[in-house]
Amino acid sequence: MFRKFLSTADFYQVDALLIAGDVTAKTIAPIVQDRTGRFRTKFSGKTWEGLTETELKPIEQAIADSGQYPARLTQDEYDAIRSEPGRIDALFTKMMIQQIHRWVEMAEKHLAPRGIPLFWIGGNDDKPEALAQVQSTSHVRYIDEAVVPFDEDHEILGFGWTNPSPWNTPRELPEDQLGPRLNQVLKQVRDPEHAIYMMHAPPFGTGLDIAPKLDSSFDPPRPVTQGGQEVLIPVGVHSFREAIKETQPLLTLHGHIHETRNSAKIGRSLLIDPGSEYSAGSLRGAIINLEPKRVLSHQFTTG
Ligand SMILES: [Fe+2]
Repeated sequence: MFRKFLSTADFYQVDALLIAGDVTAKTIAPIVQDRTGRFRTKFSGKTWEGLTETELKPIEQAIADSGQYPARLTQDEYDAIRSEPGRIDALFTKMMIQQIHRWVEMAEKHLAPRGIPLFWIGGNDDKPEALAQVQSTSHVRYIDEAVVPFDEDHEILGFGWTNPSPWNTPRELPEDQLGPRLNQVLKQVRDPEHAIYMMHAPPFGTGLDIAPKLDSSFDPPRPVTQGGQEVLIPVGVHSFREAIKETQPLLTLHGHIHETRNSAKIGRSLLIDPGSEYSAGSLRGAIINLEPKRVLSHQFTTG
């Protein structure tokens, strides 16, 4: 999916690429090597056993493509990790950091000859410990909780923290802490009229934040249904809505809610969220045609 995303630079002939967070995997898929050297793993509801290196390769790739980290472990390593939950977490963080470094390197290599910058932030699913290791390169710029120049006419603000979700993810804050944290970053914006805010979560009640209502008493949480249909509710951030209403940036970009693919207006500000279908192998995005003082047009893409 990330390779596909990078190739959009040529396909759509864009001047800049942006990612609004949640880039890392959600889970680890262990691949255990037994004492005879054969591998076993679980993927796509199936258990694979007695695999040779050659047989394992395509399955390992399919696991990675599905958005999980395939982790090769010996039986002893697997037993040790399972006996101590802290070790699973440490391995997960390590794999996240490796993936981020690999992707930043891949993006820099691809975009440097084209002179195209990529601006990105983490989301609520990306661990702070992993994001703390991120370093910007000349073309891949990490802008979480920062305001930087975007082009000659615009500046861009990045903010990846979200309000609490039923999934209890690593970068969530209660609303009363989220607003003040965002305000610290907003202070750095010189001229909202020429600013883009890239905030992982959408603002509340804008039509960009409609998601299934979940019952957190189950693990994992389950959608609440009524008359055989999923109940949909707004789940966006109130303080983001207030900040956009008050400061009126040119454009705001969001992710987070996979189900929503929508645009909206708050005053003069245009809000865009392309939604996500990555688990189905489909890349959702939006092409935005920006002029100094207005957004000329925008178009949602799927590919
Ligand atoms: Fe998210």
